[in-house]
Amino acid sequence: MPPVEEVKRRQRKDLHEYQGYDYLDAGGQGMVSVYMETDEHGKILSRVAAKDIYLDERHWKHMEWIDGLPADIGGMYRLQNQTTSVKPLRIEGHDVFAELRMYEMRLEFAPHADLWDTLKRCRATKVRVPEPFLWYVQKSMVETGVLMGEGDLVTSKTPWRILVHKDIKLDNVVLAPPLDNEFPSYPTPKVMDFGHVGEIYAGNPRPMVDQCWGGTHGWRAPERDPAYNPRGPMTQASDVYSVGLTIYHLMNLSLGGPPRLAQDGNPVFGDSDPGRLFSPTLQEVVRCMVQTDYASRPTFNYLHQFIAALFATPADQVDAMRIKALATHRLEDAERWIPDSELWRFELDYRQDMKYRLDTVCRFLEPEEEPEDVTEGVAGQFGKLKVAGKGKVKKAASV
Ligand SMILES: Nc1ncnc2c1ncn2[C@@H]1O[C@H](COP(=O)(O)OP(=O)(O)OP(=O)(O)O)[C@@H](O)[C@H]1O
Ligand SMILES: [Mg+2]
Repeated sequence: MPPVEEVKRRQRKDLHEYQGYDYLDAGGQGMVSVYMETDEHGKILSRVAAKDIYLDERHWKHMEWIDGLPADIGGMYRLQNQTTSVKPLRIEGHDVFAELRMYEMRLEFAPHADLWDTLKRCRATKVRVPEPFLWYVQKSMVETGVLMGEGDLVTSKTPWRILVHKDIKLDNVVLAPPLDNEFPSYPTPKVMDFGHVGEIYAGNPRPMVDQCWGGTHGWRAPERDPAYNPRGPMTQASDVYSVGLTIYHLMNLSLGGPPRLAQDGNPVFGDSDPGRLFSPTLQEVVRCMVQTDYASRPTFNYLHQFIAALFATPADQVDAMRIKALATHRLEDAERWIPDSELWRFELDYRQDMKYRLDTVCRFLEPEEEPEDVTEGVAGQFGKLKVAGKGKVKKAASV
């Protein structure tokens, strides 16, 4: 085990270029902070999200390793090693302290919080999540699915081991700044938290039960549920299910759990479900993705092509045409007067939190001050920490 002093020294070195920090989120396994580089006036020049993970023995033992790194880190490097999609959240650096069962990752900062916050805000204000944004979430998550399956959106990589995320849910999708060339009115959804990711390949020695391990209750596909016997198979269809469920709950403004099933066993939107108010195409796609039988779900590749075709030729579907328009133009670009009361319907308002503002007040790192003792500090910090409130509705934690 490295001496605590050594750990502290390396941690300080990693952070030497940052002057400010604030906490973003803390869970059972670690915490996420934002580090900020500032100029001499305290104005923020850049931000990076630092995810510090401290695992217990059980989680460390079950964790997979990818390219010699904890899967959380190795999986992200693999996905960003291509030029066909900017949807993977960028990882800029990392440190592993195996003897302490700790690692740190430095990630592209996503300034618009996560989909769990989006859901909470929409529930609180009783506002529907805008449908074009839901398509953007769908498209981005499907793109990540294709990358996990093939390594590249255009030319499949060979050799490539399929990655299965296993913990897809609302709070594991963060919102990065909008892109100019796709859905420019909306923040860009990026799947993250690859802490439970696993590889699929012929001859994998891990027993199927182990391969199905991980994830979050209420978000796993039925074949991965501990009650399912025998468990498995572990395929990308499990991720397709969880992506479908993410959109399903955003449509229904519900908090997780399996979809409503009709008497014939097929997923449905009930008469009184808010999901009924979305376009028939979106409802249909989502219903197919959350089929109980894994073999009946569409693949990420199929969905990728389907979405591309839908936007290329929305045909006479009014909804698809409207979504296509919103997928390529900012609302402000429209050459017509839009009453203010209508504008908000198509916007997601971003987290109104000081630390997300450019000229924010933030805590400053004191270079001369010694960081707290690492081992004690963790428990101490969690004790003191006011976890950024997830409000009255409680999100489910990963196992
Ligand atoms: N790069 C980032 N930019 C902005 N926010 C982030 C970033 N990374 C993580 N967060 C925030 O921190 C939360 C927790 O991060 P993450 O899911 O990676 O860790 P975790 O330990 O798995 O947490 P949990 O067990 O609660 O899912 C995210 O849901 C998100 O709100
Ligand atoms: Mg998470």
